[in-house]
Amino acid sequence: MLLVNAAAPIALLLAVPHDPHAAADSCLANYFYGTHGQQDVFITSDELCVAAASAAGVFPEGALVPLDESGVGAGDGGRQLVWLQHDAVEPALEPASFVDELDAFLAHLPSVLARSPAVPENGQIVLGAGDSAHTPAAPPALLHRTPSSALLAVDPSTALALDQHLPRFWRASPLPPSPVPLLPVPRSAIERVRAILAGLKFDPVVASLVANISVPQLRADVRYLTGEDARSEIVSRHSFSKGVLIAAEWLKERFEELGARCELKPFLSGFAPNVICSYDGSEDTTETVLISAHYDSRGSFGSVRAPGGDDDGSGTTALLGIARAIARRGVRFRKHVRLCAFAGEEQGLYGSRYYAQEMREQGANLTLMVQADMLAYHAPGEPAQLGLPDRIGTPEVTQLVANLSAIYSPELTVGFTPACCSDHQSFHNQGFPATQVFERAGPIADPMYHNSGDLSERDNYDFEQLKSIAKVQFATLLHVAGFDLEESSD
Ligand SMILES: *[C@@H]1O[C@H](CO)[C@@H](O)[C@H](O)[C@H]1NC(C)=O
Ligand SMILES: *[C@@H]1O[C@H](CO)[C@@H](O)[C@H](O)[C@H]1NC(C)=O
Ligand SMILES: *[C@@H]1O[C@H](CO)[C@@H](O)[C@H](O)[C@H]1NC(C)=O
Ligand SMILES: [Zn+2]
Repeated sequence: MLLVNAAAPIALLLAVPHDPHAAADSCLANYFYGTHGQQDVFITSDELCVAAASAAGVFPEGALVPLDESGVGAGDGGRQLVWLQHDAVEPALEPASFVDELDAFLAHLPSVLARSPAVPENGQIVLGAGDSAHTPAAPPALLHRTPSSALLAVDPSTALALDQHLPRFWRASPLPPSPVPLLPVPRSAIERVRAILAGLKFDPVVASLVANISVPQLRADVRYLTGEDARSEIVSRHSFSKGVLIAAEWLKERFEELGARCELKPFLSGFAPNVICSYDGSEDTTETVLISAHYDSRGSFGSVRAPGGDDDGSGTTALLGIARAIARRGVRFRKHVRLCAFAGEEQGLYGSRYYAQEMREQGANLTLMVQADMLAYHAPGEPAQLGLPDRIGTPEVTQLVANLSAIYSPELTVGFTPACCSDHQSFHNQGFPATQVFERAGPIADPMYHNSGDLSERDNYDFEQLKSIAKVQFATLLHVAGFDLEESSD
């Protein structure tokens, strides 16, 4: 592993605001470790390359730091590097200084891990790494930090369990074991999105179809996913829980009875599978349009509950609401369509990373994708909103979604959000056009974010806003994939 080679000169870490084109033509492209938080991360000890990139102005002064390697790979090799990022949240949600929070977390992690297996067994899932979950973990090594990010080296099993111990507003993002290709979205793919935007105009049939999403049905579906429905046995949809597997089967059954073809696709031992549903296009084409959400969730530290009513029961329910309207109105798409409910999002976009990489390896012809993550929370006194990513995503897709919102959900106030890092990032990183829809044109404001109280029956959980944003996601699908209505429908 790069960082543990004692013979190598000191490793340098470069973290710059994400820009898919900045380093593409530089030698730095050979040392790309992915986009984490809002940063592109490069690690190298190639000083000639760094000097050349610096002279070419590829990165700003101060962005390059030596990595503190003390404590890395102390004889045990194979440690996992994990980027920690503080979420963009409203200051009012943050009780204490998050800088102190991270210090306390790092100080306590070894004893927390010693007390409990890194990944809890719940009777259903045992992490595939054999007995490693019971081996006392080596202490995490802090390699670098800023006020809102940090780079850790930890045992692989600890990396998977970090989300259960992290302070609430921090998220983990695992670095790959070696550099990965830097894949900007190709110009041809962007031109295709531009052409769709240029041809965009109001379609009354689309308006009628998107209006068919049913609020009572959204409510019933999300209540099943959170366990608020007494008939549901789901207590948690954490990626390693029993409930998440119930949710996976339930989602597959619902989508299938609505006419989609689904499979549960496992991606990494111990994690719940991705739920991947497809509709074959009527045209002879390879073009595919994808909409998605993540159905796993994260609760409060120490609690077994992770109902995820907003995060991301709302996005998952939107997919179901769209599938219900497709079935009721006999929509037949012209291009291929996929509806994906990903797992492992809260541990670092695991499910979507595997799936996007697989689509890239298979040469998939993905026109665009739109991820829905947190659609329902509505801050008191604010208008219903749609937040679009300010940095991570394909600007042309974001613009298309903004225009579709103006046409089909004019009740939404549209703006940018710094809340980042959902599953669309996995697709964007593989060079597929991608964006996200979010509940707020600003930072996260939901007081139940990453909290075991994230239910749907609570103040300011707004089903009308949820429907309005689902309409935008559905309208994107209809306009981009094209469709016909089956004769038998009205
Ligand atoms: C998209 O919206 C922008 C901003 O409202 C507007 O200027 C532009 O004309 C719209 N484009 C299309 C193709 O509708
Ligand atoms: C959706 O369409 C079906 C079939 O036309 C209709 O019976 C139903 O009332 C519509 N639902 C909504 C919420 O518009
Ligand atoms: C994707 O589909 C479009 C439209 O059919 C086609 O022009 C293009 O060549 C395809 N691209 C790939 C990579 O298959
Ligand atoms: Zn989420």
